[in-house]
Parts: sequence; structure tokens; C-alpha cells
Amino acid sequence: MNNKHILLGITGSIAAYKSIELIRRLREHGAIVRVIMTPAALKFITPLTVQAISQQPVWTHLFEAMDHIELARWADMMLIAPASADFLAKLAYGHANDLLSTVCLATTAPITVAPAMNAQMWQSSATQDNCQRLRQHQVTFWGPDKGIQACGETGMGRMLAPADIVQALLNSEQTGKMKGQTLLITAGPTREDIDPVRFISNRSSGRMGYAIAEAALKQGATVTLVTGPVSLSQIPGVHTISVYNALEMFEAVMAHVATADIFIATAAVADYRPIQAATQKMKKNDTHIQLNLERTRDILAAVAQLDKAPFTVGFAAETEHLVSYAQEKLVKKNINMIAANIVGIEGIGFDSTDNSLHVFWDKGEHKLPRTSKKELAVQLLELIMQCHSKHHLITP
Ligand code: CTP
Repeated sequence: MNNKHILLGITGSIAAYKSIELIRRLREHGAIVRVIMTPAALKFITPLTVQAISQQPVWTHLFEAMDHIELARWADMMLIAPASADFLAKLAYGHANDLLSTVCLATTAPITVAPAMNAQMWQSSATQDNCQRLRQHQVTFWGPDKGIQACGETGMGRMLAPADIVQALLNSEQTGKMKGQTLLITAGPTREDIDPVRFISNRSSGRMGYAIAEAALKQGATVTLVTGPVSLSQIPGVHTISVYNALEMFEAVMAHVATADIFIATAAVADYRPIQAATQKMKKNDTHIQLNLERTRDILAAVAQLDKAPFTVGFAAETEHLVSYAQEKLVKKNINMIAANIVGIEGIGFDSTDNSLHVFWDKGEHKLPRTSKKELAVQLLELIMQCHSKHHLITP
């Protein structure tokens, strides 16, 4: 980040106090940080503190000495942290009634936001629509994170920790082989409710998908990860969408697939779900009960069928006939590549840190021997990039 000009916007959120540590950490990495505070931010922290930590003047109002156009030109990147719900709405609709929103409109530098708000405000359809709109306008999102909030509620909406924001920035500065590629990845299990306390799921830990997401990010790719319930931490810099069941995963994938160059389906999606989940906890009266299940939609096959399908990669976890089952799935789902692995062996596959893969595509196959999922992710991405570039040559 040496001498990188970061124009930091601080908006009105209790998380504004974290911006002080963020400025300190950014400066430690060599960045020059100038700050614009919105009028609401002034209620939470003082310009004097910000000025002392940034060692730069702080701007708070539209008509100040330095022209807003000059500030907009100075920035190599704009980082709004914390970004309140109100500011996201303003940004989504191009308002220019304070200095920060005006500079955002006037700059050609990339804009990144680190949202911070109450969980309900984050989940509200108005905020989600605004975020969707901002993503279409190439605004990058870092976070928010899950956890206890200042209002006492627990949920999604906390600003990413300053260390994680800095890590996300370092990751995004990578100039690896995947720069310019957009990846959409599914990971983890899904849960299909039987009643309010019981569900059908599987032993997938999500590790393989998370490892691929992290490896791709380090290679410079833009990564969206649609994840079922797992106990892994968010990867700073990866746009993470948490879902619960197969239907939510399907909808999240379809909402993001249009911009993806590569789709990698590592999730262990439930193939069946109860036709009707009981609204109350089921009581044990009979000696036998029957669950009526219906098929869920195949996300991978649906993506592969799209008119403008990305390069699609599936996973096949098998207990026997690995080669023939994997090759069948490659053809049946009409996908570009499949990574197969044996499950049911101690130490590899589901819920383990290690794995081995046998990868097939229309014109070849390659074995990736047992190693950590992190290392395997790097090797698999290498293979995907090779096949993807050849695929481009034959299908312009
Ligand atoms: N997959 C998916 N959507 C589903 C089911 C599976 O995207 N509803 C994806 C998985 O993420 C994985 C691949 O498809 O990439 C697995 O193929 P699948 O045929 O579903 O495997 P199994 O569920 O193991 O199927 P089978 O029982 O037929 O072996």
C-alpha cells in the first residue's frame, strides 16, 4: 500500500470509533489516509481525533477550502467504513447533498464499502435492494460480519474488524493469475427443515469451498461465496452470502451468476426436502413415521443450462465407482469439469482437512493426490484456469 491514496469516508454509525484503528493500521502499511466525515459521523467521533491519527486535515462539509473535485481526483480508492444504511441508500441513488456523497459521484477511483448497521436494517428489503444496485455499479462490499451488535441484538450487520478490512485490501491488491476473473462458489451443507427443531443435512464442513474462495482471492479474482451453515470464519475480501436451505442457495446463485466467469459447486446440497415442514414440533406417537420428500432443484445443472453459462465445475463425492459415476455426472449435468473424491475413508473428504481429487473434463483427466484442502484448492484452480482458457479458444 506504499503511498496509496485512500480517501476514507466515515458515516453515522456507532462503529465509527473503529475507523480510528483502521486509519492507524492503513498508515502502518504505508497508505496515506485522508478522511471525510459526514455530519452524522461527527456525533460519534471528533475530527480532532481523526486528524491526530491520520496526520492529515479532515473534511466535514461540502464548501470547504479544498475543492471536492480535487479530493475526488486525489483518491486512488474510496473506502467508506463504516457505511450506514442511510449512506448506502444515498450512494445507490446518486445523491450529492453532502461532501462524501458528492465526492463519491465525482471520483473515478473504485469505491468499497464496509457496512455497519442493526441486523434488521441490514436484512430489510430496501437495504438489500440498494446493495444489489450498488454491486451493479461496481461498488465492492467488505462485510458486514455476524455477531453481537451495539444494540444488543445478534446477527449480520457488524462492521468488519479493522484488521479484516486491511486484510481484504491487501488481498485485493494481489495481482495474481486470476486478476479480472469473477468466481461464484457454493460451499457447505444445506438444511431442510422437518419441523421447527429438526432438519435434514449432511456432514459437509464447507472447508473445500472456503479454501477455493481464499486461493482464488489470493490470485486476484473477485469472489462471491454462497455458503450453507458452517462454523468457518468469513474470508475478508470475499463477498459471502449465507443461506440456509437448497432453495435459498439456488436463488442466491441465480442472483449472482450473470457476472460470473467461473462457477464452482462444492456445496453438498440436499437432493430432497420435506414437502411440508411441520409448523409445530412433531411428537413421537407412532412406532414408525414416514417423511414425504420432494426433489430440490439441481443448482449446478441449472447454471450449466443457462444461455450464457460460466465455466462450470462440479464436485462428486462417491463411496464407490468413482470414475464412472463422476464421468456420468459430467455428461448428465452438461458441465465443463468435475472433481471427484472418495468419501467414507477416515481422514479425507467430508469434515476433514485433507482430500484427494480425480478431476475429469471432456478431453482429459488429472489426479491430485492427497494433501490439505488449502493446497488442493490451489492445484484445482490451476487446472480450472488451464481448461477455462482452452475452452474460451474453442467456444468464442
Ligand atoms: N449440486 C447442486 N445442486 C443440487 C445437488 C447437487 O448444485 N441440488 C451439485 C453439488 O454442489 C456438486 C454436484 O452437484 O457439485 C454433486 O452432484 P450430485 O449428482 O447431486 O451428487 P449427489 O448428491 O452425490 O448425487 P447422487 O446421489 O446421484 O450421487
